[in-house]
Amino acid sequence: ASLQMYVDELPEMPKLFGYTTNKYGSPNPAKLTIGMYQIKWKFHRDFPATTVFAYGTSAATATVPGPTIEAIKGVPTSVTWQNFLPQSHILPWDPTVPTAIPKHGGVPTVVHLHGGVHPPTSDGHALAWFTAGFRETGPTWSQRTYTYPNVQHSGNLWYHDHAVGLTRVNLLAGLIAAYVIRDPYLDAKLKLPMGPEFDRHLMIVDRSFYKDGSLYMNYTGINPTIHPQWQPEYFGDAVIVNGKAWPYLEVKRRKYRFRIINAANARYFRFSLSNGLSFIQVGSDASYLPYPISTPTILLAPSEIADVIIDFSKASAKESVLTNDAPYPYPTGNSVDELNSKIMKFIINPKSPTPPDTSRVPPNLVEYQTASTAGAAVTRYIVMYEYQSQTGAPTHLYINGKRFEDPVTETPKSGSTEVWEVINLTGDNHPLHVHLGTIQALKAQELVDLSTFSACMSVKNDAIACNVSKHATGKVINTPENEKTWKNTVKIEPGYQTTVVVKFNLVENNKAKAYPFDASAEPGYVYHCHILDHEDNAMIRPLKLLP
Ligand code: C2O
Ligand code: CU
Repeated sequence: ASLQMYVDELPEMPKLFGYTTNKYGSPNPAKLTIGMYQIKWKFHRDFPATTVFAYGTSAATATVPGPTIEAIKGVPTSVTWQNFLPQSHILPWDPTVPTAIPKHGGVPTVVHLHGGVHPPTSDGHALAWFTAGFRETGPTWSQRTYTYPNVQHSGNLWYHDHAVGLTRVNLLAGLIAAYVIRDPYLDAKLKLPMGPEFDRHLMIVDRSFYKDGSLYMNYTGINPTIHPQWQPEYFGDAVIVNGKAWPYLEVKRRKYRFRIINAANARYFRFSLSNGLSFIQVGSDASYLPYPISTPTILLAPSEIADVIIDFSKASAKESVLTNDAPYPYPTGNSVDELNSKIMKFIINPKSPTPPDTSRVPPNLVEYQTASTAGAAVTRYIVMYEYQSQTGAPTHLYINGKRFEDPVTETPKSGSTEVWEVINLTGDNHPLHVHLGTIQALKAQELVDLSTFSACMSVKNDAIACNVSKHATGKVINTPENEKTWKNTVKIEPGYQTTVVVKFNLVENNKAKAYPFDASAEPGYVYHCHILDHEDNAMIRPLKLLP
């Protein structure tokens, strides 16, 4: 029997301020301490509480998702991350994928600020993990307190676990939360809907449960002799927003801003709204769009963020349901069913809002540096492969045919811009995420005579030797308007070569600026597929900047 939808109110996660305000009203750097706790969490009114891992300032205040960190552009935030998790994990942990295995038990964790521009020592490197009380630490661990300089432009980030081989289970267990960098001058200029009531986060995941309330993850791997527990993609039945299954939100007939984060392991969401509403998208990941884009649907891969305005005064009825119709795996998998086709419901107050809505959607938002292949220091070929057993079951996925632990091959110069031609030889779309740098897809071009190209690549593993320029000549897919900005994750179409501009600098007033820290320091960064089950086995590679 399934649960009734729209009975829990959408929660707002607690906020932690990554700055203090002095007596003249100007912001100063602040230091936070955030722990990871095992707690019980109610995902639905009529469902038993679930054991989860949660971020918070204490076990009593920890939530799923964790507290939203509010930062201010230019004001550094430090966080001491603490692990209070028990000796054993609440989910299956497959030792046959490359993974952290502490000698004395405990749950290895390390926090990554997704979209953050910060030194490598604060990046949450996959091997910089630590267990409870820092009893054991991974080979690249160096410090307890991370500093986020918040030097980039304002926008939407999120933080989550990144421990090697455990990312999929640690996020599934609940270690996810939002982070926003605000720019008070820009906010005052744009006048988009503001304040805690009208500017909100929607952090969306899919989860399955056992009847007793515990989280369900298949304990049997796709291929028991190779990987006893690993599955290529986790898909849950229930859709959870801000920690509640299919919640509702009562809204006024006015504009709201929603920062929608797809924090699912593997599910893509293609959102629509019922009863005549559409989205006005103003940002994608941590960047604004140059101008607002009105669209009836938005497709988000895992880790992508859509910053949208919904104007409820335009609704033709008293309610509007946020729906999903993305196949899973995307794009050629199963169709959604009743449970995962619904996300949440907005209940619209019929009265005119008091006070009246004075927010607006300005015709122009923010123009950053234009993305172009001209002036790129280097062009790289990045190839996505899936490997299968004799029986055709997926065994692992790699980038460029290399393991995570193989020597680094991507070594961009700090401050430079590169072009990555990303070639997807698998049947699925993959969300490519690059740490530190910001990325923009220019276009995707179909690989013609794909079987010849794939056969050559499986032998030579060299795109140029396999004549990629002769194959990347098919149909062109232009990047959709609502994704044409500096992103943290871009979707990589199967059977296509996607041209991605990767920028390793900050840009102010259209002038490139160096990072105000040594981006070339140890232990470096990573780039990977953000389908977490792929990332863990092992679509992840080191990224080491050169000075
Ligand atoms: Cu959101 Cu390397 O991750
Ligand atoms: Cu992938």
